Amino acid sequence: MKLACTLQVTAGVTVSSAAIPPSRASAESLGVKGPRCRGVNPTTIIANTAFNACLRLLSRDNFRRFGRIAAGPSETACQTGKHSGTLSNKMGSERRFFKRAADRFVTIRRRRLHHKNKGAAWEDAMLDTPSQSAEDVRLQSFSVTYEYPVVFTRDAFALGNRCLVDALSRREPCKRHRCLICVDEGVLASLPDLASQIENYAAAHAGSIDLVGLVPVAGGEICKNDPKTIPNLLEILSQRAIDRHSFVIAVGGGAVLDAVGYASTIFHRGVRHIRFPTTVLAQDDSGVGVKNAVNLFGLKNLIGTFAPPWAIINDSAFVDMLPPREKRAGMAEAVKVALIRDGKFFEWLEAHSDALARFSRPHLDHLIRGSAELHMRQIRLGGDPFEMGSARPLDFGHWSAHKLEQLTKNQLNHGEAVAIGIALDTRYSVLSGRLAAGEDERVVGLLQRLGFDLWHDKLRQCDSRGVPLVLKGLADFREHLGGELTVTLLAEIGRGVEVHEMDERIVGNCIDWLEQRA
Ligand SMILES: NC(=O)c1ccc[n+]([C@@H]2O[C@H](COP(=O)([O-])OP(=O)(O)OC[C@H]3O[C@@H](n4cnc5c(N)ncnc54)[C@H](O)[C@@H]3O)[C@@H](O)[C@H]2O)c1
Ligand SMILES: [Zn+2]
Repeated sequence: MKLACTLQVTAGVTVSSAAIPPSRASAESLGVKGPRCRGVNPTTIIANTAFNACLRLLSRDNFRRFGRIAAGPSETACQTGKHSGTLSNKMGSERRFFKRAADRFVTIRRRRLHHKNKGAAWEDAMLDTPSQSAEDVRLQSFSVTYEYPVVFTRDAFALGNRCLVDALSRREPCKRHRCLICVDEGVLASLPDLASQIENYAAAHAGSIDLVGLVPVAGGEICKNDPKTIPNLLEILSQRAIDRHSFVIAVGGGAVLDAVGYASTIFHRGVRHIRFPTTVLAQDDSGVGVKNAVNLFGLKNLIGTFAPPWAIINDSAFVDMLPPREKRAGMAEAVKVALIRDGKFFEWLEAHSDALARFSRPHLDHLIRGSAELHMRQIRLGGDPFEMGSARPLDFGHWSAHKLEQLTKNQLNHGEAVAIGIALDTRYSVLSGRLAAGEDERVVGLLQRLGFDLWHDKLRQCDSRGVPLVLKGLADFREHLGGELTVTLLAEIGRGVEVHEMDERIVGNCIDWLEQRA
């Protein structure tokens, strides 16, 4: 089965303009005389012309109206509603002049400097940089379309399986493609023959594949936490002379895909990368997305890139090798995306929770495809594939999950932490009056039937003021996004709603509720 994911991204630059003297020439055309200095940058010249304009204005009767007042913030003058004014400090060594221009104030700071034998001199600096006029601004705008196949297959490295060869040859069918393959050590441990299978596959398709190396990468969060992972990967890419037309292929769980993806997208400003997700979570969520990241300074995903891959090949045989704990973890992301996007899919998960808890193969396949398609749909149609706005629409339940992963030092894996985060935010949706009472029981019931434990003692850990440490996750979330906090809650099962504040008292009640049920 093959799905195509197409993304179109439009980039542009918009610069506002205001009627502030834009340049020396136009200031002078208004009769403003400014000093001519060689080797002075344009901002200084603008500052000086504006300064003179301001002085001319002040020299009329406006100056008198403000008089000498103690040095203070420029807002004081702005708030008076006056159009110009000056402030000076008590020593008279620094003055600030304000002039209203269009909808903003221009502020010039004048400082007295003392030169030996030369007496006093003044240094002027413009504290606000004026906007450019419309004729100095060009609007840059272009669109980029991304298109990549997301393939669902089995035994991708069996000699007769052409999924990889087809993906490599998509644009250049007659070329022999240089490929470096990075493989999760956890996958290599459970499939010791994998390395030779890959080598045999490359040899059998030698017309299309030039295998330049097979690199093991430590599996799990350790590879995202270790500061040496990325430099080591970059060194290998450099040693193997990977260029912008070569392929870096990552085979592994979400963590290895994140780390190898990140290294590939910064090397040579981005080389082609193909993902083979090997866990339920990576196949139903992270692997089909456009994000790559590693952890830094103890913060989850602090550095990373948005970069659509060249292709994604989901091989269900890898999932068979997973330990039960990892199989279960990935189901949390399917529950998450069903809750915020697709009530029918949630009902299907509920109806088949027992089979899923037994990891029945057809049911697990259905869960993975359903969840992957909902994640792809959000990226394709959500309007913000690279999350430029202040929302992380697919991160329901994640503000506390990321914090719990950190607080437990990854004792809880991502999916397990997400399950707790989902339970917390679903209860919050009910207590804050957004979701009908009883729906929280339904969600928690499903998660428990799938085998999730919805309590961890770290939820109780508080700082010296008695505030639960997990609440710091909200501040981290806000910081990551920039701007205002945006958290997804539930309006109904299948429909997420964005909110911009969380009441810490209600979060505390939700934690109590989870503890009582544990
Ligand atoms: N980029 C994104 O959009 C995105 C989205 C969600 C999650 N993530 C990230 O994904 C990571 C979690 O990924 P994960 O849940 O896939 O777990 P993981 O990558 O941490 O892997 C878990 C363990 O399973 C092993 N493993 C992987 N595949 C195996 C297989 N087929 N057989 C046996 N063992 C195998 C690994 O070696 C590791 O020890 C987190 O770092 C999370 O932040 C990224
Ligand atoms: Zn997640």
